[in-house]
Amino acid sequence: MRIERIRPQHVLKDFDCGVKELNEWLIKHAIENERRDLSRTFVLLGDSDEVVGFYSLTVGGVNVEKLPKKLAKGLPKFDIGMVLLGRLAISSKVQGQGLGRDLMVDAILHASVAGDNAAARFISVDPIDESARGFYAAFGFQDIGGDELGRMYLRIIDAVAALEEVSDEN
Ligand SMILES: CC(C)(COP(=O)(O)OP(=O)(O)OC[C@H]1O[C@@H](n2cnc3c(N)ncnc32)[C@H](O)[C@@H]1OP(=O)(O)O)[C@@H](O)C(=O)NCCC(=O)NCCS
Repeated sequence: MRIERIRPQHVLKDFDCGVKELNEWLIKHAIENERRDLSRTFVLLGDSDEVVGFYSLTVGGVNVEKLPKKLAKGLPKFDIGMVLLGRLAISSKVQGQGLGRDLMVDAILHASVAGDNAAARFISVDPIDESARGFYAAFGFQDIGGDELGRMYLRIIDAVAALEEVSDEN
């Protein structure tokens, strides 16, 4: 398997991760958004150019009041840089084989490079449902807390340290 930045040659039309909204976004919008610099999408490919997974990134800012309390401590009141992992999905036919994890590692590394160059402190995610929330929580992403269930956050520096720990163990 290999991960590449999305190109028109990649075959998207049959992609199905079980979540219609994510399939449709990839098939209808990912290439156009790439061209217009609205998002960056990276795709996972097998032997052919058929896409079996993808994630997309954009950059943004977050006000301290929107952050989980633990992550907001001591921060100034202007927007803090973040990289948003807007979507991540693996084709239903290859789920449960560690490929979602591979994409997450790649997303964290890309977020880290962007963050290093433009001072982004967080990587954030918009889980599409409860199951996705569980997937992200397993990587250390934190809920805002309270009643508002939405975006989850992780410090990029902590995400990278966790990856380094895993690679040191292997
Ligand atoms: C969520 C998704 C990306 C996971 O991809 P995957 O390739 O099946 O996951 P992996 O096999 O790489 O699993 C990685 C780890 O996450 C865990 N995991 C996978 N799905 C999970 C879930 N829904 N909740 C909690 N943990 C989950 C796995 O158990 C595994 O942990 P382990 O290494 O400790 O065993 C995939 O199921 C998917 O595309 N689902 C539909 C779209 C979606 O929900 N996207 C995310 C929100 S935008």
